Amino acid sequence: MARVFNFSAGPSMLPESVLNLAAAEMLDYKGSGQSVMEMSHRSKVYEEIINEAQVLFRKVLGIPDNYKVLFLQGGASTQFAAIPLNFMNGTKKADYVLTGQFSTKAYKEAVKVCPDGDVYEVASSKDKTFTYIPKLTKENFRSDADYAYICFNNTIYGTKWNYIPDTGDVPLFADVSSCFLSEPMDVTKFGLIYGGAQKNIAPAGLTVVIVREDLLGNAPASIPTMLDYKVMADNDSMYNTPPCWSIYMCKLVLEWIEKIGGLEAMKLHNEKKASILYDYLDSSKMFINPVNKEDRSIMNVTFVTESDELNKKFVADAAAAGFVNLKGHRSVGGMRASIYNAMPIEGVEKLVDFMAQFEKNN
Ligand SMILES: Cc1ncc(COP(=O)(O)O)c(C=O)c1O
Repeated sequence: MARVFNFSAGPSMLPESVLNLAAAEMLDYKGSGQSVMEMSHRSKVYEEIINEAQVLFRKVLGIPDNYKVLFLQGGASTQFAAIPLNFMNGTKKADYVLTGQFSTKAYKEAVKVCPDGDVYEVASSKDKTFTYIPKLTKENFRSDADYAYICFNNTIYGTKWNYIPDTGDVPLFADVSSCFLSEPMDVTKFGLIYGGAQKNIAPAGLTVVIVREDLLGNAPASIPTMLDYKVMADNDSMYNTPPCWSIYMCKLVLEWIEKIGGLEAMKLHNEKKASILYDYLDSSKMFINPVNKEDRSIMNVTFVTESDELNKKFVADAAAAGFVNLKGHRSVGGMRASIYNAMPIEGVEKLVDFMAQFEKNN
């Protein structure tokens, strides 16, 4: 069967050249006589893979030396608990901006795992079904909070922060799961950024946490060892068995990003795809994008028609034509096209042609 255009929100498409290289190296990785899937994570050959992944991540994203890059497991959702457990350690105040389901989950998890803490809702865009990003200034955040928390790209609602909020001296933490490595990012503006790899970076199983070193080491003694970022940092992400295969795939994806010109080129590629789709949506009489224009995500593009029935028909007809996983998140309905790094421009052009034809026929 021909490969489909996969608009899944994650796990999602990986670059075809990366899949081909992984296939070629599957049985015998560089003359080692084994697959990366079979290697001891303590072997010399694997050590080189994880070290290269680390070096490349730093290079591609421009991560300064005073930040640690951790290759962890448990998904982004585990970090919802790990973050308050590691960092609500001073005034025990933490400030959360609620811009969708994942930041709300992170907020609730902080309340749950730090019951003696003071978890504060700085702002929320729930009043308009999370279709916009609140405009905040330093005054909105508490100056004595241990950290402030945002979700930088809201996968379900198709919004993205088009600015980095000023939190003064309070370290800003961001969930970047669905926009990781999609464009350049000034890491120095953040105390911590993290994300699940299964959208832009690698297959599921790997979670990357990038954290400023001086913030580590103050977790309470009761923190579970596996959630203690300091332990993971001190052990170079090898306290226990890391997600070896996903880290290897991450290395191949980083090499691919470098080859196509790094994150500046990635940004142009992603902006082009997003504008093809948004331009069409803005001209369509059938499909509507419900998001505040200036807060539109370039990774997740949401749209609806006026009826659930038509939405359903669109998703089914699109799948039959080779455009799969266009159904919106179960909590909001409608449609969503996730157009992560590996989605070629051709995929979006063909989708728009298909949408225009569907509009004409229906
Ligand atoms: C922005 C964001 N945060 C968190 C998550 C949860 O990630 P995981 O499934 O890796 O726990 C997702 C999943 O789609 C996401 O999009």
